[in-house]
Amino acid sequence: MIPIVTTIPECRTAIATARKAGKTIGFVPTMGALHAGHAALIRSAQAKTDFVVVSVFVNPTQFGPNEDFHRYPRTLEADRVICEAAGAALVFAPTVPEMYPEFAVTVVDVTKLDQALEGPSRPGHFRGVCTVVLKLFNIVLPDLAVFGQKDSQQARIIRQMVRDLNVPVTVQVDPTVREADGLAMSSRNRYLSPEQRAVAPSIYKALSTTRTRALGGEIDVARLESSLAAELAAISGAKLDYARIVDAEMLESLPRLDRPAVAVVAVFLGTTRLIDNVLIP
Ligand code: PAJ
Repeated sequence: MIPIVTTIPECRTAIATARKAGKTIGFVPTMGALHAGHAALIRSAQAKTDFVVVSVFVNPTQFGPNEDFHRYPRTLEADRVICEAAGAALVFAPTVPEMYPEFAVTVVDVTKLDQALEGPSRPGHFRGVCTVVLKLFNIVLPDLAVFGQKDSQQARIIRQMVRDLNVPVTVQVDPTVREADGLAMSSRNRYLSPEQRAVAPSIYKALSTTRTRALGGEIDVARLESSLAAELAAISGAKLDYARIVDAEMLESLPRLDRPAVAVVAVFLGTTRLIDNVLIP
C-alpha cells in the first residue's frame, strides 16, 4: 500500500527523496471521500509526472459556520486504495493543528473573481480555499497540480492566484466526471436520499438544455438564465441557490453570448447543496 504521511516534515522528506531521484512531482489536492472524479485527476497527473501526491484534508477554513465541516465524510483507508489504484505515490493527510497551528494571521484573498456565484453564497470560502491550496503548494512544491472543472470558479481562482503570486506550478483543469445518468460526481452525493438521488440528474439535464439552446443560436443571456432557473426550480424537492451564465474568464455577467461563457448552478436538495456547470464555448 502507498504510504500515508500526516506531518509536514514527513511529507517534505518523502517528496524531496523522489525529487533527488530525478522524479517530477504531480499534485492533486482533495478533501477525501474520493470518487471516480478524483481518481481521474490522479491518473491525469500520473500520466504527466513521475510521483503523484494526493492531499486529503477537510479544510475547516473554507466551510461556513452552518456548513457541513463536521459531517463531511472521512474515509481515509478507502481513499488510500483509490489513490494507489489511480497511480498515486503518496497520500498527505495532515491534521487540522498540523495545517493551522494556534497563531496564524496570513490569508490569501483573490479579489473580484470571488464576487459572484459561490462567493456571495459562501462568504470566506475562497479565502479558505486559496490559503490552504497555497500552503499545500508550498509543502508539496509540485511541478503540476490538477484540479476539476466541476468546481469551475475554484479552478479559475486558483489559476489566477498562481499567476498573480508567481507560484512556480503548472495548473491543469480536467473535465467533470459524471455518473452514467449525468449527475456530476461529488463527495456530497452520498448525503442524498434515494428520492433526492433519483431527481439529481435533472440538474445536469437543465444545464445541457441550456447549452443546446445556446449552441442552437439563442444568445440572450437573460432568457437562457430564466429558463434554466425555471427548469431547476421544477425539480421535485429542489431549492435553487443560483443559476447564472457568466463570462468564462472574468466570471462577470454578460448580456449576450459573444464570448466563451459558463453556465453555473447551485441547487439545494434538502440540506445538500450541489453545484454543477457546463462550458458554452
Ligand atoms: P474536493 O471537493 O475534494 O475536490 C478535489 C478536486 O477534485 C477539485 O479540484 C475538484 O474540482 C475535483 N473534482 C471533484 N469532483 C469532480 C468530478 N466529478 N470530476 C472532476 N473533478 C472533480 O475542491 C476541493 O476538494 C477543495 O476545495 C480543495 C481544492 C482540496 C481545497 O481544500
